[in-house]
Amino acid sequence: MTVKLIRGGTIVTASDTYRADLLLRDGRIAAIGVGLPAEGAEVVDAAGLYVMPGGVDPHTHLDMPFGGTVTADDFETGTRAAAFGGTTTVIDFCLTNKGRPLSEAVAQWHAKSEEKAVIDYGFHLMISEITDEVLEELPRIIEEEGITSLKVFMAYKNVFQADDGTLYRTLLSAREHGALVMVHAENGDVIDYLIREALEAGNTDPIYHAKTRPSVIEGEATGRAVKLTALAGSQLYVVHVTCEEAVRQIAEGRSRGLDIWGETCPQYLVLDETDLERPDFQGAKYVWSPPLREKSHQSALWNALKSGELQTLGSDHCSFNFKGQKELGRGDFSRIPNGGPTIEDRFSILYSEGVAKGRITLNQFVDIVSTRSAKLFGLFPRKGTVAVGSDADLVLFDPAARRVVSAELHHMNVDYNPFEGMELTGLPVSVLSRGEFVVRDRVFTGVPGRGQYLKRARYGAELTHGNAGSPAAGTTQPLLQG
Ligand code: URP
Ligand code: ZN
Ligand code: ZN
Ligand code: ZN
Repeated sequence: MTVKLIRGGTIVTASDTYRADLLLRDGRIAAIGVGLPAEGAEVVDAAGLYVMPGGVDPHTHLDMPFGGTVTADDFETGTRAAAFGGTTTVIDFCLTNKGRPLSEAVAQWHAKSEEKAVIDYGFHLMISEITDEVLEELPRIIEEEGITSLKVFMAYKNVFQADDGTLYRTLLSAREHGALVMVHAENGDVIDYLIREALEAGNTDPIYHAKTRPSVIEGEATGRAVKLTALAGSQLYVVHVTCEEAVRQIAEGRSRGLDIWGETCPQYLVLDETDLERPDFQGAKYVWSPPLREKSHQSALWNALKSGELQTLGSDHCSFNFKGQKELGRGDFSRIPNGGPTIEDRFSILYSEGVAKGRITLNQFVDIVSTRSAKLFGLFPRKGTVAVGSDADLVLFDPAARRVVSAELHHMNVDYNPFEGMELTGLPVSVLSRGEFVVRDRVFTGVPGRGQYLKRARYGAELTHGNAGSPAAGTTQPLLQG
């Protein structure tokens, strides 16, 4: 692999902004300094550009069966689009099946990703029931696969939903084995009732997806998960937080010193409930769970990112075509596949709406879009920063460039873009993964299958550069746990 010198850019991390050159060797950052000599390296001119750590997207659903269909992006199209958007690591949700070995599901997710991923990736593991077999297998999966985060759904009754006993026992097991429990926090039982009530009343349009999942129910489930976490003495990460009620529960738990973390998504920051009322069934494109909220919740989310009550931004990329997939729910909103294509625009929306509009600082941006997820999910400092010894996963970002989002130009394998027409400031011009260009001057130069599977360190373990890919070999010094 050629040695590269990234010259003249402005390096931005979660804590610092400064002018320096970067020397990249063997896929890693070998040196940082002002006026580094080229010495045979390929020189890349970064004048006028920010040089940032590649985005770490902690929440994707690639090649996932859901809602009677399968997501439109697989690990090839999804990670290629991610790279175009400035993301160099994704952590995808591995679905498990009740009564089947966890290892079977993990093997299936390896098979989906291995020859396709363009950038590096890891897995979270879904837990839908706790049995003797699961309790026996779980420590091995955490250890051998480096899957150090477990996902429990408190919604999607009769599909993914787990009961509170399962959540509680997962929290206990996670505390014992050093994993982070992630929850989709909505009350699935109440939602199930509200959906049936709406359909019986003839309310079948997409907007009723939002009306049957009120924010109070997200707040209730979030508060329940926080309390169970306190009882278990464990750690919790709440995915896709959409509303003020949920933010308040997370903030309240954190103010009591609990190990609680919260993620929001770009769609909740810039879209709102009225998008579900778009005519000609177009509202189906805006069906997410939890749903888009009234516009007033957006400022609660921005404030929480600014103040640190929410720490990360996941895309929750879960793409379905409008034609043939979203359309499955014509005449019955409950059959609209939930989710949308967001992997490509997550990074730029946070920059444009956050930094360019003065809502968050440039260093906060890097923390939210990359560093914090790398830390929480056992990848730091291999991923999530610009430092000597870290992987050379870099975005060369032009803060002055402007673009208009459109499905015509995006790289996701889907026939619409929920942010269509949005004008964004800032553009990831080139993107490197482990020192190789995967996007160069907006042209794709990556190769499917080059992406590596990431074994992640246990929750709270401090990593050194040598062991970031190998939790088994790592030290487990508490860093995050209080
Ligand atoms: O609507 C959504 N969020 N779809 C993806 C699955 C999930 O709940 O994260
Ligand atoms: Zn969810
Ligand atoms: Zn999701
Ligand atoms: Zn270091």
